Amino acid sequence: MGLNAINDNNGAGADKTLLQSFQFVQETITEMGTLSWLNMRALVWMLGDYEQYKKSKANIRKFINNLITERTIAKPDGSKLDENIFINRAIELFQQGSFTRQNIEDESVVLVFGAFETTATTLNHVLILLAMFPEYQERVFEEVISFFPDKETFEMNYSDINQLTYVSMVVDETMRVMATVPLVGRHVRADTKLSNGIILPEGLQILIDIFNMQRRKDIWGADAHIFNPENFLPSNLEGKHPYCYIPFTKGVRNCIGSKYALLSLKVAIAKLIKKFRFTTEFDYKDLQFVENITIKLKQMPLLKIQKRST
Ligand code: HEM
Repeated sequence: MGLNAINDNNGAGADKTLLQSFQFVQETITEMGTLSWLNMRALVWMLGDYEQYKKSKANIRKFINNLITERTIAKPDGSKLDENIFINRAIELFQQGSFTRQNIEDESVVLVFGAFETTATTLNHVLILLAMFPEYQERVFEEVISFFPDKETFEMNYSDINQLTYVSMVVDETMRVMATVPLVGRHVRADTKLSNGIILPEGLQILIDIFNMQRRKDIWGADAHIFNPENFLPSNLEGKHPYCYIPFTKGVRNCIGSKYALLSLKVAIAKLIKKFRFTTEFDYKDLQFVENITIKLKQMPLLKIQKRST
């Protein structure tokens, strides 16, 4: 907690204000969730952060509401909104009477929360790891220029993205050793016997430790803690349990944005690595992790970014 005063969500600083608001609400929610025994809501209020928390939430709601208002005003040419875009689909359901305006607002807030911090954190981790392991960064570069040899700026379509198999391995391995969402919670709805014989009784709240599970030596070998994209070669995945790698979890409540997240990450990585070289003096073994809704680093490695000569 403790960001500088958060301004109104308009004018030149609007983007920064919105980001700060998301950050502040996320941090406060985590503290209220993980330390509920302290009655964090009261503590937040006592520490004087409650006003800031309320203001941050209002900023986010205002941003979403402006989007809804913009889009519900009839298009002058009478054309339909592109229904492949989430908010347009939600507005269509509202116009048909299946959604209330509050539903659009709530669902949009959840989606922005689910999408933005997770994808940004993962991209940051990929760049940090590629800076720490230059040999893997060069392999990414080689793959990208083999598909896009000429121009500095280039467009990518769906099939281009799917051909970037090494980039894909790098993303998967990044989310294995640095699980973006390190823990997920579940409420046990019926007595459940685990394969090791332990019974989870109905009503129990549990946390699934994705971070440590994805670094288990009995699954990933003696070097399970080391970043090595080769772990995701098809031959190395053979025989592994399908749930031993779950950065987006599995089952009915898994991440609805996983495909979009992977596509957008690969595009961003290809474009950045084609143009820039990332280096760092920070050593991989000195990374220290702090559990939160998305994993945090105790000390953020500084990256040096140099433009590649083409
Ligand atoms: C690398 C990026 C991302 C990671 C690592 C990630 C991870 C996760 C995880 C672990 C969950 C919890 C699932 C569970 O409790 O079982 C989740 C839920 C969710 N994610 Fe993502 N996510 C990412 C990107 C996105 C994007 C881009 C969107 C939207 C476009 C999104 C939307 C959501 C939503 C709406 C939920 C809640 C689903 C539900 O409760 O039914 N996520 N995500």
